[in-house]
Amino acid sequence: MNRRLLVTGGAGFIGANFVHHWCQLYPSDRVVVLDALTYAGNRRNLASLEGKENFRFVKGDICDRAIVDQLLRSEEIEAIAHFAAESHVDRSILGPAAFIQTNVVGTFTLLEAFREYWEAKAKPSSYRFLHVSTDEVYGSLGPDDPAFSETTPYAPNSPYSASKAGSDHLVRAYHHTYKLPTIITNCSNNYGAFQFPEKLIPLMCINILLGKPLPIYGNGKNVRDWIYVSDHCQALDVVINHGNPGETYNIGGNNEVENIQIVQTLCQMIDELVPDLPVSPAEKLITFVKDRPGHDWRYAINANKIKTQLGWTPSVTITEGLRLTVEWYLNHRDWWESLLSEAYYDYYRKNYLQSQN
Ligand code: NAD
Ligand code: DAU
Repeated sequence: MNRRLLVTGGAGFIGANFVHHWCQLYPSDRVVVLDALTYAGNRRNLASLEGKENFRFVKGDICDRAIVDQLLRSEEIEAIAHFAAESHVDRSILGPAAFIQTNVVGTFTLLEAFREYWEAKAKPSSYRFLHVSTDEVYGSLGPDDPAFSETTPYAPNSPYSASKAGSDHLVRAYHHTYKLPTIITNCSNNYGAFQFPEKLIPLMCINILLGKPLPIYGNGKNVRDWIYVSDHCQALDVVINHGNPGETYNIGGNNEVENIQIVQTLCQMIDELVPDLPVSPAEKLITFVKDRPGHDWRYAINANKIKTQLGWTPSVTITEGLRLTVEWYLNHRDWWESLLSEAYYDYYRKNYLQSQN
């Protein structure tokens, strides 16, 4: 097909999985990654693509209008898949400024650059701006509330989700006002390979392997809907290829689970796979700590729209997905060990947990 795609945040967790997915399925397309390589970006996530003719990595900030303009024109980009963001709720509580800058100002910078470029090309209807967003924009559900649908009112609760909600509104407005062919997706909690070990699942896997405490916020009964990252990438593929501009699609895994159940399952899986753990059984490491301020109670996704209109449903069960994820972290110790030795990781964990005491 020879399409030309700009992927922002392609060195991060979901972005890297998406780039691998796209390059494998559409080898004649050109994929250009723009990523600032913050603490969460890792060029090694894309190592197997380096040197390939149809792949290019550019280190740069989405807030830098000159770089974005230059890339759009020189690469003749037809679609942007926008993943770049500050993505961790706990970090947004400690330091929200970076979230406003990247998530709001960065998305605005991309939209303005893409709009001018698209208008100069006489507004091709096939161009796309895919904005990858989160279910957290809808706020928090009680135990019996119906799942979030595309018409659920926005009620973001953390600086992270508020910054994502702001960016969603800008994206929507650029379609409404300028008819820019934008699409928004709002997805639930992803897990899988390449996830930075600050998020629940990789943090717990690594702490189990190291014999370190497993910090559970509050009573551990908060519920998240978990989606294996390859299912999310497949959904985004379907949305880029078949979604309608101006629309929003919710993406979910159909897997609502309490945090404590996730952690207990990981303990049991790793107990079985690793006979010589520093602390065994690993459940002995579970430590209840002070709750996250403003902690959303429950997220759940109604993904009927993408199922009925675009034919997508998730295919990986939570048990299969957790098993694949655990195996990935067991087999990629060098990947996460090098991250743990970075000063920012220790600094952040210490500061976050201390601020909670
Ligand atoms: P991540 O933190 O793993 O990766 C973010 C990437 O963006 C990194 O490579 C980082 O270097 C890059 N980046 C950050 N600021 C940048 C800037 N100013 N310019 C260029 N690059 C920059 O995030 P993730 O978990 O892969 O999430 C990707 C996207 O998906 C985000 O927009 C997030 O809001 C959304 N999302 C994530 C989840 C989830 O469970 N992780 C769920 C739904 C939606
Ligand atoms: O719902 C989608 C969102 O999911 C994405 O938009 C975010 O980018 C992504 O980070 C994720 O947000 P959460 O806050 O839900 O993910 P996190 O992995 O940080 O936490 C998951 C749950 O586990 C949450 O209820 C808090 C809890 N938790 C987390 C950590 C890191 C703990 O109990 N202990 C921990 O150490």
